[in-house]
Amino acid sequence: MKFKKKILCIGAGYVGGPSMAIIAYKCPDCRITVVDTNPNRIDAWNSEDLPVYEPGLDKIVKKTRGKNLFFAKDIENQIKENDIIFVSVNTPTKTYGAGADMAADLQYWEKTARQIMKHSRSSKIVIEKSTLPVKTALAMEKILASAKGKIKFDVLSNPEFMAEGTAVSDLENPDRVLIGSHETKSGLKARAELIGIYARWVPLEKIITSNIWSSELSKLVANAFLAQRVSSINSISALCEKTDADISEVAKAVGMDSRIGDKFLKAGIGFGGSCFKKDILNLVYLCSYYGLQEVAAYWESVVKINEYQQERFMANILNSMFSTLAGKKICILGFSFKADTGDTRESPAIYISQKLLAEHAEVIISDPKALKNAAIDLAGIKGTVKYIEDPYRAAAGCHALVILTDWDLYQKLDFQKIYSSMVKPAFLFDGRNIIDHKKCFAIGFNVYPIGKPALSHFKN
Ligand SMILES: NC(=O)c1ccc[n+]([C@@H]2O[C@H](COP(=O)([O-])OP(=O)(O)OC[C@H]3O[C@@H](n4cnc5c(N)ncnc54)[C@H](O)[C@@H]3O)[C@@H](O)[C@H]2O)c1
Repeated sequence: MKFKKKILCIGAGYVGGPSMAIIAYKCPDCRITVVDTNPNRIDAWNSEDLPVYEPGLDKIVKKTRGKNLFFAKDIENQIKENDIIFVSVNTPTKTYGAGADMAADLQYWEKTARQIMKHSRSSKIVIEKSTLPVKTALAMEKILASAKGKIKFDVLSNPEFMAEGTAVSDLENPDRVLIGSHETKSGLKARAELIGIYARWVPLEKIITSNIWSSELSKLVANAFLAQRVSSINSISALCEKTDADISEVAKAVGMDSRIGDKFLKAGIGFGGSCFKKDILNLVYLCSYYGLQEVAAYWESVVKINEYQQERFMANILNSMFSTLAGKKICILGFSFKADTGDTRESPAIYISQKLLAEHAEVIISDPKALKNAAIDLAGIKGTVKYIEDPYRAAAGCHALVILTDWDLYQKLDFQKIYSSMVKPAFLFDGRNIIDHKKCFAIGFNVYPIGKPALSHFKN
C-alpha cells in the first residue's frame, strides 16, 4: 500500500508509543514508525507484553501494528525514509554540572537533533513532543541549520498533555492540541501539515496554535499549575489534622466554587510521576536564569510542600506505631505513582519504602501492575522486601497497611478478612483517602487518613 504520509517518532517511551499508536489508528493512510536506542523497548513493543501499561492500548496496538504502525531499530535509515519526525525522547533533570538537580538534561534531545541533521537526505518537519525548556527550538534550529545542501527543516512545538493511566482516552479526546510554529511561510505550511493530521479526529476548535516559545512554555506551566493545586490542598491537609477540620469537606466546599473547580483537589501523599517535579524544577531554573528569583522561589515551594507531605506521612506512621518499626511487617498497597499505570518514576512509594526499611521494618509490596518496576527501584537497598501481587496474601501477618496508590481495587477489598489475618493492634494508613475509614475503624483497625482526624482505639 502507498501511504500518504511517512511519519517517524524518535523515542518509544510512555509518550512516543501511545501517541503514535493513536495517530496510526486514526490515520490508516499514514505509515508511522517508532524507533528507540533501547532495543529491548522495541522488542517489547513488538511483543504481546507491551512495555507500557495503559487501559485500551493493547487493543489499538494490535489493530495497527504491522499494518501502518511499526517499531524499528534502524534509526538512521528511518530518518532518511520519513518526512515528518516527532522527537519524544526523555528530558530528565540534570544530575551533574551547571544547573544540577534543576535544569533539564538535554543530552538525549541534542543527540537526536544531530542524528536528524546527519542522516537526512531530504527536507523534513521536526516536531518537539518532549517537554523542553522555552527556547529549545532555537537550539534545534541552529543544529539543523548546519545540514549540508538544500535540505530545510521546519521545527514545530507540539507538547503532549496526555496523562498516564488515561493516555488512550486523553489522546483520543484531548482537551486541546497545541501547535507552536514560526509565522514564516514555511513555518505556517508545516503547521498546516500537522493540523491536517490531528484534524482527522480532533475538532478544529480544539487545535490551537501559537508561537513556538508560548507552546514550549505552556507545557511547563500546565504541569506547574496542576502540581500547585496538589500541593495547595496537601498544605491545607496538614492544617486540618491540627484543627479537626476534614480535608474532604474543605475541598468539596472550595471546589464547588466554579471559579476554582473541583479537579486536582484531592489530598494525598503527594504527586509523583516522571513529569511534575522535573518540569517545575525546569521552570524554577529558567526563572533563576532570567534573574526572576521571587518567581523561582514561588514555584520551588510547590516541590517543597510535596516533599514535606511525604515526610509528614512517614513521621505519622512512625509516631502512631509507638515510635518503633523495627521488625514490624508493613504492607504497602500500591507502588505505581497513580492508578492504572505500572509507572513508578518518582512514586512516593519509593520514598516511603526506603524510610520504612531504614527503620528496619519488613516491607511487603503489593501492586497489580508495578511490581517489576518496584523491584528495580528498590534493588540494592538494605533490608527485607517482599513482592506479592495478591493484597490478601501480602497483608497476612502484617502490623500495618499503607495505601499509597489510588487503585480502584483497594476500595473493594474485604477489610474484615484482611483484619482477621493481621497482627493486632492493626494499623491502616490511607495515603490516598480512598477507603471507608469509619467502616475500617468499626472492624478494629486504627485508621490514619490524610487531613482528617485519626480513628484510633487507643485511649490518650
Ligand atoms: N510520561 C508522561 O506522562 C509525559 C506526558 C507528557 C510529556 N512527557 C514528556 O515526553 C518526553 C518523553 O517522556 P516519556 O515518559 O515517554 O520518556 P521515556 O523515558 O518513557 O521514553 C523516552 C525514550 O526515548 C529513548 N531515547 C533517548 N534518546 C534517544 C535517541 N537519541 N534516539 C532514540 N531514542 C532515544 C529512550 O531510550 C526512551 O525509551 C519527556 O520530555 C517528558 O517530559 C511525558
